[in-house]
Amino acid sequence: MSVTFKPLHPNFVAEVSEIDLREVNDPQTLAELRAGMAKYGVLVFKNQHFSNQEQLDFAQRMDGELHAKTSSSVLAKNRFGNEALTDISNVGQDGSILGAEDRRRMNGISNRIWHTDASFEDPAGRYSMLYARNIPPVRADTQFADMRSAYQALDEDTKKTIADLHVHHSIVYSRHTMGFDFSEEESAKLKGAIHPLVRICADNPLPALYLASHASRVMEWAIPEGRLLLKDLIEHATQTQFTWSHQWSLNDLVIWDNRTTMHRARPFDDVKYKRELTRVTTLDLPQRQAA
Ligand code: OGA
Ligand code: MN
Repeated sequence: MSVTFKPLHPNFVAEVSEIDLREVNDPQTLAELRAGMAKYGVLVFKNQHFSNQEQLDFAQRMDGELHAKTSSSVLAKNRFGNEALTDISNVGQDGSILGAEDRRRMNGISNRIWHTDASFEDPAGRYSMLYARNIPPVRADTQFADMRSAYQALDEDTKKTIADLHVHHSIVYSRHTMGFDFSEEESAKLKGAIHPLVRICADNPLPALYLASHASRVMEWAIPEGRLLLKDLIEHATQTQFTWSHQWSLNDLVIWDNRTTMHRARPFDDVKYKRELTRVTTLDLPQRQAA
């Protein structure tokens, strides 16, 4: 099967031609989709019809091993009985809307700060695949930032300065900046991870800034200088010309590459309306361990 890509932004993001991903199994189509990911960083697929298991299966065919050490897994048991299927929703075990003060809501709402998935782990997240199962009657977009264009637009001095720096990513840190604190016991399961600030993926030679609100310090620098640099770079990378918002329809699947984009959820009245999506994220292993 041959797929085509319709660009949705001058620099990144494309919508993929009609395709039922449950049936995509052949190496050629999977290779075309991966090439699309390498080029565009974000792909939008309309009208998918995944059961939980079908979404998990497709993710493994597409990119191999799955990430299961999420921050929500330290707070409560997963509603679907599988930590690899992340519950991106504002509802509890019984399907009713979480109260304003619920810790699971306070943790989930932190998706509204710019981040990449699982950068606080090693291996971090590579592809994230988010599927819309129930969407509110109001807009509740997901916004993306193109970290390759953002890198390219930096001046040459800055590129030299940041070339060999490493960054510590911690979700305990980023949640703390949002007024949410994990207990000591929870924090012990979320130690964080160190990653290069500038990354080149094997599948695309353009360098990307690897940043997130989880970025807590530059390893080679004193803490305040490092924080200021990270703040400046996130501010730079999230200027309007580098961003694009996905307005969800029911049954959309959006796949993004966490190595070349950042993302955030946009606010909506989440104590009034339900919003239920499921996310599967693959591990950024050097070799794709196709299942
Ligand atoms: C995620 C995420 C944003 C959203 O699923 O990783 O950050 O809009 N989601 O729900
Ligand atoms: Mn996310």
